[in-house]
Amino acid sequence: MNILITGGAGFIGSNFVNYMVRKYSNYNFVNLDLLTYAGNLENLKSIEEATNYHFIKGDICDNQLVTNLIQNHSIDIIINFAAESHVDRSITDPGSFVRANVVGTQVLLDVARQENIKKYVQVSTDEVYGTLGEEGFFTEDTPLQPNSPYSSSKAGADLLARAYHETYGMNVNITRCSNNYGPLQFPEKLIPLMISNALEGKPLPVYGDGKNVRDWLHVEDHCSAIDLVLHKGVSGEVYNVGGHNEKTNIDIVETIIDTLGASRELITYVEDRLGHDRRYAIDPEKLTTKLGWTPKYTFESGIKETIQWYLDNRSWWERIKSGDYMNYYKKQYQDK
Ligand code: NAD
Ligand code: DAU
Repeated sequence: MNILITGGAGFIGSNFVNYMVRKYSNYNFVNLDLLTYAGNLENLKSIEEATNYHFIKGDICDNQLVTNLIQNHSIDIIINFAAESHVDRSITDPGSFVRANVVGTQVLLDVARQENIKKYVQVSTDEVYGTLGEEGFFTEDTPLQPNSPYSSSKAGADLLARAYHETYGMNVNITRCSNNYGPLQFPEKLIPLMISNALEGKPLPVYGDGKNVRDWLHVEDHCSAIDLVLHKGVSGEVYNVGGHNEKTNIDIVETIIDTLGASRELITYVEDRLGHDRRYAIDPEKLTTKLGWTPKYTFESGIKETIQWYLDNRSWWERIKSGDYMNYYKKQYQDK
């Protein structure tokens, strides 16, 4: 089987490529990634020499490039991770999210249809469902009510994927996962930002009252879920992915501070994110009962291991933080 993974140099994509290339030595993997600020080939160092792995730098919006790639590598399956993924950036620059997330997905689906791809997996997010009150969970039947330009663009992509199944009969699955954490996450996202700032003795910026709730899943458990959907997902179906680990943001920040032995005085409440969704929580029952998925990590074991990874790989995030990201960070937090 020849599999095209897009966005495989980002956080989840690179964890997935590392996981799959090792697990399936009989499959060939092509990783197509534009290497935006979030793409990092350092994440793939340990498999770059593998004979079943090939990297191509390029844009999923480029129809000709995607067509050539699919023909030259006899691609059977596409798994689309490529996206602009950070909500705060979508608030200041929605256009780039529509381009990468909506137009990019449409190009991939179109080429997949023309080239008779056997299966297309769209990696989506629980954020397409909008926000929850204090009770309840997102199921696959929850209406889509995205609130940010990021989640709207992901919802647009999901609807296109659905339409290509309904209209052209394409074999499509959509996965909607909750917040991921783990190794190789870009330090603009809550957990790696807080760990790295705490280690640098910098303020820990908590939005609003810090009581927004996210449902956390270790990235490796997300990878195993996508692996299952790839092999067993029923055509046209959506699968929610989550491990019932709801935490308030302030809980997360305090856990990180206490694990590192840092000072709680670093906590700095800042202006809230515009349109900030209050609570996400996934009901993963369909995935667990129909496909037999079970997560390997508890939040307690996963967060400890993750904090240790950032301690052991300080040079990885220090290199990122000293580059272009610094300009974004300054604009986001210090120029306000
Ligand atoms: P990320 O920002 O870390 O990585 C995105 C990758 O996509 C980068 O390597 C980037 O270079 C690449 N990319 C962006 N635009 C591209 C384009 N036009 N062509 C080719 N490559 C392009 O994102 P992530 O956190 O790893 O998320 C991966 C996917 O999973 C996204 O689709 C996201 O919506 C989804 N998701 C993320 C989470 C989460 O908690 N991070 C949860 C659920 C779903
Ligand atoms: O739910 C899945 C989604 O999770 C993915 O689709 C997105 O790609 C991913 O970025 C993530 O979105 P969030 O907005 O939930 O993640 P983020 O890490 O940006 O923020 C998590 C929570 O922490 C959110 O309530 C905002 C808050 N926060 C975030 C940052 C960066 C802060 O309080 N301070 C911060 O500095």
